[in-house]
Amino acid sequence: MKKRIFGNWKMNGSLAANAALVDALAQGVHVGACEIAVCAPAPYLAQLQSLLDGSSIAIGAQDVSAHADGAFTGEISAAMLRDFGVRYVLVGHSERRQYHAESDELVARKAQAALVCGITPVVCVGETLAQREAGETEAVVRRQLAAVVQVNGHCLSEIVLAYEPVWAIGTGRTATPEQAQAVHAVLRAQLLAATTSAGRIPILYGGSMNAANAAELLAQPDIDGGLVGGASLKAADFLRIVACAQ
Ligand code: 13P
Repeated sequence: MKKRIFGNWKMNGSLAANAALVDALAQGVHVGACEIAVCAPAPYLAQLQSLLDGSSIAIGAQDVSAHADGAFTGEISAAMLRDFGVRYVLVGHSERRQYHAESDELVARKAQAALVCGITPVVCVGETLAQREAGETEAVVRRQLAAVVQVNGHCLSEIVLAYEPVWAIGTGRTATPEQAQAVHAVLRAQLLAATTSAGRIPILYGGSMNAANAAELLAQPDIDGGLVGGASLKAADFLRIVACAQ
């Protein structure tokens, strides 16, 4: 499977900073090596649509409404994202689960809303430090994924999954390749039990991935790519991770 390296810019960027970053990425990326996407704040999707026209770098969004349209002030529908050339959307990022109280069921419905519009949801799962220390890692990620399987069983093979241990996000404390692989294997087994096409579903790792640790993580059998936060904001760092995936 072609590796995927997706950047999650989170709430960072400006028109000027994005233009400089995308320009440097476009110059450094070689077509076809691996699949690359940048997940930008919604106001900048139009800018990316124009900057990345004809580029092999795909546009991603960071969230989507579970609703198709209507009286949901502040929300953004999957159809609106599609209007701006969005190919991927993160759903259930731990920062959404934590700061916006997103439930497993809501995350599953967001994934469904994206799929209905032909956008690939990147479903994020992961345990907190307290959950890991309590030995609950496997139960937590299985529960988070089960909700998505239940709602999206028929088109499950169209999703991308991302394992992001919360304790590794933005902390500089990466999961070891063995720790990450162990959870990826659990997720792969759960997908295999749910669909015969599970082998097609990429499982990305996210959490303090950087140029120094990417190669070892990406060498694990069930790690199909990376979801990169902080290191995706600097073109040189992001490109070094991309190089590890080739
Ligand atoms: P960092 O790479 O900054 O740890 O963020 C990971 C992440 O949350 C990507 O979605």
